[in-house]
Amino acid sequence: MKNTLLLKALACKNDSSRPPVWMMRQAGRHLATYRAIRSRFSFLEMCHDPDLIAEITLLPLQAYDLDAAILFSDILIVPEAMGLTLRFEDHVGPVFENPLVCREDTRALRPPDPAAFEFVSKGIKNIKALTDVPLVGFCGAPFTVASYMIEGRSSKDLKKTKTRMFHDPEGFHELLEKITDRSIEYLKLQIESGVDAVQIFDSWANFLGYPQFREFSLHYFERILNELHSYDTPVILFCMGSSVFAPELAGLKPACIGLDKNCSPADIRKRIPRTVALQGNLDPDILHAPLPLIEREVDRLLDEMAGDPGYIFNLGHGIAPDVSEEAVRTLVSCVKRRASCPAASLS
Ligand code: CP3
Repeated sequence: MKNTLLLKALACKNDSSRPPVWMMRQAGRHLATYRAIRSRFSFLEMCHDPDLIAEITLLPLQAYDLDAAILFSDILIVPEAMGLTLRFEDHVGPVFENPLVCREDTRALRPPDPAAFEFVSKGIKNIKALTDVPLVGFCGAPFTVASYMIEGRSSKDLKKTKTRMFHDPEGFHELLEKITDRSIEYLKLQIESGVDAVQIFDSWANFLGYPQFREFSLHYFERILNELHSYDTPVILFCMGSSVFAPELAGLKPACIGLDKNCSPADIRKRIPRTVALQGNLDPDILHAPLPLIEREVDRLLDEMAGDPGYIFNLGHGIAPDVSEEAVRTLVSCVKRRASCPAASLS
């Protein structure tokens, strides 16, 4: 591997004058090349085809000078493998035809099947043969995945999920246990197939109160981390809500915490050990701003984290589909400009 900046930062040992840069949802609809492929295939056809997985994963690396690739797939591939029928509708997003309505539905979920994720394994091997940039694999956090399985689609308030959680905590834990088992199996397969790091996305953790976050999310992060411990593959925990939950996440000793946009990473750093890397957290909406403002905000974040050997430049959430490629290119070149700065700024 030629570009090891991400791995060095994940180990909190980046001594270069700039942090590595990549972006959540970089392999998606904001790219014209993605939209051209998407016009020929359904989203799930793309997710299930190892050649397309590789081709799409590499699209953002062709468009921008990034330091990492993220596997093209989706967090909902896991519930699909568990027996839920998934489709993606235009203007709606993911829809499960048979959401989980009661405990019996959870008990009827499909048992583990080592062949279920073979297309992902082949896709990863294809990617690794084509690039020398580190590849980030991923899965959804059990709480976020459970919310889709119960709501059946994206929801503004997670009403059904939280009602179920409070009325039937035991049944809810039963579901979270099953998702956790499958997620561990899925991440192990990704690691064994060649990914260099993995990220767990808890996109809806911010819907949880503090005690519920500990009980229904943190506990399952811990189970996953324990299971992956023997692999030595860095694990990034990303939460919407991590600006509040970061100290709890750090207690699990992940390689890295992905920060949402609602905090100052330098402030968070004061409460997080130097052995845990921090990733984030530019407001993704800044990519809709005039280019000079994008440069100013990227510079502000770079200044704030200058000299931190465990800092990775990223957004606070994913890139929106209507962001211009020019905006993303501006962001990336602004981070890269720091490479020519003297390393003296490193403390
Ligand atoms: O570029 C990447 O980050 C790699 C691939 C990736 C996708 N989804 C591809 C995708 C990743 C890491 C995800 C994660 C994901 N999927 C999350 C967690 C991260 C987050 O953004 O909070 C969630 C909640 C999902 C579920 C999901 N998938 C939704 C709600 C939607 C529809 C709305 C949307 O955001 O696009 C998807 C579809 C999806 N996943 C697309 C892509 C490229 C667009 C599909 C299309 O072309 O129609």
